[in-house]
Amino acid sequence: MALVTTTEMFKKAYAGKYAIGAFNINNMEIVQAITEAAGEQRSPVILQVSAGARKYAKHVYLMALAKAAIEDSGVDLALHLDHGADFEICKSCIDGGFSSVMIDGSHHSFEDNIALTKKVVEYAHAHGCVVEGELGRLAGIEDDVKVSAADSSYTQPDEVEEFVSRTGVDSLAIAIGTSHGAYKFTADQCTRNADGVLVPPPLRFDILEEIEKRLPGFPIVLHGASSVPQEYVKEINTLGGKLPDAVGIPEEQLRKAASMAVCKINIDSDIRLAMTAGIRRVFNEEPQVFDPREYLKVARAEVKKMVAHKIVDVLGSNGALDK
Ligand code: G3H
Ligand code: 13P
Ligand code: ZN
Repeated sequence: MALVTTTEMFKKAYAGKYAIGAFNINNMEIVQAITEAAGEQRSPVILQVSAGARKYAKHVYLMALAKAAIEDSGVDLALHLDHGADFEICKSCIDGGFSSVMIDGSHHSFEDNIALTKKVVEYAHAHGCVVEGELGRLAGIEDDVKVSAADSSYTQPDEVEEFVSRTGVDSLAIAIGTSHGAYKFTADQCTRNADGVLVPPPLRFDILEEIEKRLPGFPIVLHGASSVPQEYVKEINTLGGKLPDAVGIPEEQLRKAASMAVCKINIDSDIRLAMTAGIRRVFNEEPQVFDPREYLKVARAEVKKMVAHKIVDVLGSNGALDK
């Protein structure tokens, strides 16, 4: 079995009103947790690699881990470059065997974004690889780029048809109110519930509906879609961590997006939280432990549990491999 592109996955997901999880990978435990959960739930999955992940773990290791995961789990697996900043990193990942890349031209002008995205699409398609583009700007942090809430902007539905037809992209990431990281909204953008937990403003489903009307059947991508589970935040903070007012996207809103045109939902921060909660738990309950396998296996199990929950209760992609 080899890596697959996202073309078939997205076609089935659109028709079946579910989404494929795109989970960020940085090491072996994360790859195993995601693909074991996907295998047990009979769900296709996308493993995505940021520039930071390539710096941390090296392309060659991440590629080998993805290939090992296909053999071990038997799932349909796409390997995707997350937030490719320029043509060179996209080319390097295409040449290095990825089945999908994102060219993130959202920081450029509309015309420059089109020119850059088109160049990547031409190269990728000639090499059997698919491309995700982005229109609109999310708030938050990715590698060295920090976009403030003031500089973020929703995708303009008027622009999407022209962008897709002129670039030839295979999927499109949009901005409808999600944001990267574990601090998606400031306290003054939110209300508080009875427990004092921040409640974020709802996603702009009106914009998603407009985009869906203009691009019927076309796969849409949601970045910054971690839910920042409060049980992890609470556990981490109780055990000596410091994540005040961390807040994410409510899962029922993601479920709704998955039933619409959204075919790919990106999750990274929730993996970080699950791992951190697991490791802190071991360090707290068993301070004598110093074998990394002892705490990494708990962290891995926590990530696996979280991913299985996302597949079944949020994405709705469970069982898709058998349909
Ligand atoms: O969108 C960004 C992802 O969470 C990747 O984060 O650049 O720190 O690896 P990273
Ligand atoms: P989160 O920070 O919400 O997990 O978003 C991850 C992401 O969009 C990766 O591209
Ligand atoms: Zn992202």
